[in-house]
Amino acid sequence: MCGIVGAVSKRDIAQFLLAGLRRLEYRGYDSAGLATVDSKGKLNRLRRVGKVEVLMEAAKKYPIQGHIGIAHTRWATHGKLTEINAHPHISENIVVAHNGIIENYKFLYERLYRKGYRCMSETDTEIIAHLVHWEQKQRGGTLAEIILRIIPQLYGTYGIIIMDVHNSNVLTATCSGSPLVIGCGMDANFLASDPIALLPVAHRFVFIEEGDIIEVTHCTIKIWNKFGQSVNRPEVEYFIKDDYDIESKGPYQHYMQKEIFEQPKVIKDTLKNRIINGAIIFPEFGQSINKLLSKVKHIQIIACGTSYHSGMVSKYWFEELVRIPCDVEIASEFRYRKFVVRKDSLLIVLSQSGETADTLAALRITKNMGYLSSLAICNVDYSSLVRESDFCLLIKAGIEIGVASTKAFTNQLTVLLMLVIYIGQIKGMNSKIQSSVIHAITLLPDYIEQVFSIEKGIANLSKNFIDKQHALFLGRGSLYPIAMEGALKLKEISYIHAEAYAAGELKHGPLALINMNIPVIVIVTKNNLLDKMKSNIEEILARGGNVYIFSEYNSGFIESDNIKIIPLFENIETIITPIVYTIPMQLLAYHIALVKKTDIDKPRNLAKSVTVE
Ligand code: G6P
Repeated sequence: MCGIVGAVSKRDIAQFLLAGLRRLEYRGYDSAGLATVDSKGKLNRLRRVGKVEVLMEAAKKYPIQGHIGIAHTRWATHGKLTEINAHPHISENIVVAHNGIIENYKFLYERLYRKGYRCMSETDTEIIAHLVHWEQKQRGGTLAEIILRIIPQLYGTYGIIIMDVHNSNVLTATCSGSPLVIGCGMDANFLASDPIALLPVAHRFVFIEEGDIIEVTHCTIKIWNKFGQSVNRPEVEYFIKDDYDIESKGPYQHYMQKEIFEQPKVIKDTLKNRIINGAIIFPEFGQSINKLLSKVKHIQIIACGTSYHSGMVSKYWFEELVRIPCDVEIASEFRYRKFVVRKDSLLIVLSQSGETADTLAALRITKNMGYLSSLAICNVDYSSLVRESDFCLLIKAGIEIGVASTKAFTNQLTVLLMLVIYIGQIKGMNSKIQSSVIHAITLLPDYIEQVFSIEKGIANLSKNFIDKQHALFLGRGSLYPIAMEGALKLKEISYIHAEAYAAGELKHGPLALINMNIPVIVIVTKNNLLDKMKSNIEEILARGGNVYIFSEYNSGFIESDNIKIIPLFENIETIITPIVYTIPMQLLAYHIALVKKTDIDKPRNLAKSVTVE
């Protein structure tokens, strides 16, 4: 979602700010802007609806300069998608860019209105600019002091960078529920909502803690905590690998396509050094966690979106393989209900980005509620979720740019299955089952490579979906969440309404929908539920439905006018079928979106990182 970049330097920073915004594009946004103060003390602002590219074009036409500035990509929450609503916002000499939502902005506006302030935009952010301006006029002080005074008035979440045209050597910032990081450069300091924005210019970072207030000049960094006490925050070094080269799609047309095809490689990365002598090892865990895991009698998983689906698959694994009851819940539900903490329960927060607002909020409210411990499974090692959890396991998917998550999902599944076995090792799991699951895990990269060979067949099928408005996905057991994931991928990038059902629920409603215009995608493997699925398929065919069956060669299905079969393998270890069957779902959604010519990597209205509620 929204992204912020700020810079204060001895050199001109306008081009850097624009490049920083490009690096934040993957998070999702719909307008962009920047503001700088130049050497003559003049404020320059440029904003555009649409891509950063449009802003860059505008910057060529209306060159903008300055040694200090802030830039922003906006994902509209309050106020329509217009140039006037794009950030930064201004109140005379005060310039503000903001991520998050100020929930009580209307109330604040009423007060400011009475003092003579008028908003140009419909945003909650402009209120912050006016509030700072009013405070400065009334009581003076540095921006850091002013922030400390106004923070109690702001309800909501925020990462804010503020610049004062009358004191254009300092950037001031604060955050709560929306991350900010300082990048330390040479004769320059930078601020951003995501260190990725700063990679070309900084390798040393300071992560801002909740409520901190910071003041940076080109050569100094000052930090105060939410009580106004001066504090030191550790500086960490990050040298990001080549695969963070977010400019390059390589030979692929889309990032999503690239990320689908990267899966065998990144699963290998995830497995590396974690399977030794036939056992799962997590070197990052250390000894202390083993004692803790030996006590676990219940697992509570919290996640959103695609991560929620991987949690759902793991429920089948935890309960089947190690007999630990597992509950999985959507974070936005969990955080607002009066949940009961089970005895000896381990909390797992699952998130690709580690910045999803609801997941982070759920983690925060569970502190001191009685969970044995919290474990984050995440793709971003410097994320808030990782920093705020007791333990973490990193998936090694590399940066994921496509809004529709692909390689992060299969990596999450891989790590979850390994975690199940890891806990099984501690709790004395049957060694034969343990070895066979570990063996199956090692086969994953090869299996996924094999699935790629059916891409052409899937591409051909995708033409059948071009005029379809709806689709139904069916699965049973651990393939039911994969049906949900398949439906999610399709709706995200092709805009076809897609629903997933546990096939056993067909008679309880969805059968009423069946006709030849609603393709039914069935994911079925040769397990104890095969015959049940065959009956479900008969029920659909009997009502004139069209079925697309993704299954093994020898599952006993025969093609006909209204049955298309997409055969995958001869035999495959049942336990890993959810991971392997995900790939054709991703390819199907991708190819349908391709024929429908949608914006595959940045589907309309969606964001990669949902940092507001
Ligand atoms: C957004 C993204 C999804 C992602 C979800 C949860 O909706 O578009 O791809 O699954 O957020 O994100 P997380 O980073 O917490 O896994």
